[in-house]
Amino acid sequence: MKQPIGVIDSGVGGLTVARELMRQLPRERFIYLGDTKRCPYGPRSEEEVRAYTWQMVNHLLGKDIKMLVIACNTATAYTLEELQEELPVPVIGVIEPGARAAIKVSQNKRIGVIGTEGTIQSKAYPEALKSIDQAIRVNDLACPPFVPMVEEGILAGKRAQGIVSRTLQPLKEMNHIDTLILGCTHYPLIKDLVQEEMGNHIQVISSGEETAREASLILAYHKALDTYDTPPEHEFYTTGDMEKFRMVANSWFEEPIKILKLVELES
Ligand code: SIN
Repeated sequence: MKQPIGVIDSGVGGLTVARELMRQLPRERFIYLGDTKRCPYGPRSEEEVRAYTWQMVNHLLGKDIKMLVIACNTATAYTLEELQEELPVPVIGVIEPGARAAIKVSQNKRIGVIGTEGTIQSKAYPEALKSIDQAIRVNDLACPPFVPMVEEGILAGKRAQGIVSRTLQPLKEMNHIDTLILGCTHYPLIKDLVQEEMGNHIQVISSGEETAREASLILAYHKALDTYDTPPEHEFYTTGDMEKFRMVANSWFEEPIKILKLVELES
């Protein structure tokens, strides 16, 4: 029987990873769950993020997934190891793939990372980068206004540009990075604004592409790749406002999403 791939996120940001997964694995079926009601996870305690993430995971395990992708950086930082140890299916996060993608393109080994307070405090990116190359120097910055802005659907325009400009100011004052990791899955939705602010000499990296590549390699290794002949019907679940979710999803995917359901997780 064909099994779907589960993707979890704190909200709509993980759709950026889901889109890349669907692009690289067009014959797979995906079930996406975004905990929009309790988003953002970034300012929450580790304990809370772990509890919420487990609730999403248990929901998807009930749908017989064959692999789990944690598309949320904050949840990856706090739960990846334990989920990898405890789940009966392969689990991947977005931090290591993002770090690898940045190292591939950086010439001067000075890499910037922007993310939520939780991700930045966890130091998960500097650890992942330095575990690959000790010589990498990292400048990181928490950007708390970005996630609420994206969840509100404010993705362009003067107001968005102003928020991005003010928030990134400290990073612009730090010197010499040539690569910037978007260490939060919401940020690719405002990638153009970030690129404009940082300048075209900076390579702006989102981890979706590399994460999808890793998912594909793992499924191939486990001989678990699927072969739907017609495009499979993906399912989307949200814990919050369905119309906001649909609006962001439809602006991100080429075709409007078909199956969107409300789900209640324990509170
Ligand atoms: C958040 O929920 O605060 C952002 C998601 C992420 O860390 O990727």
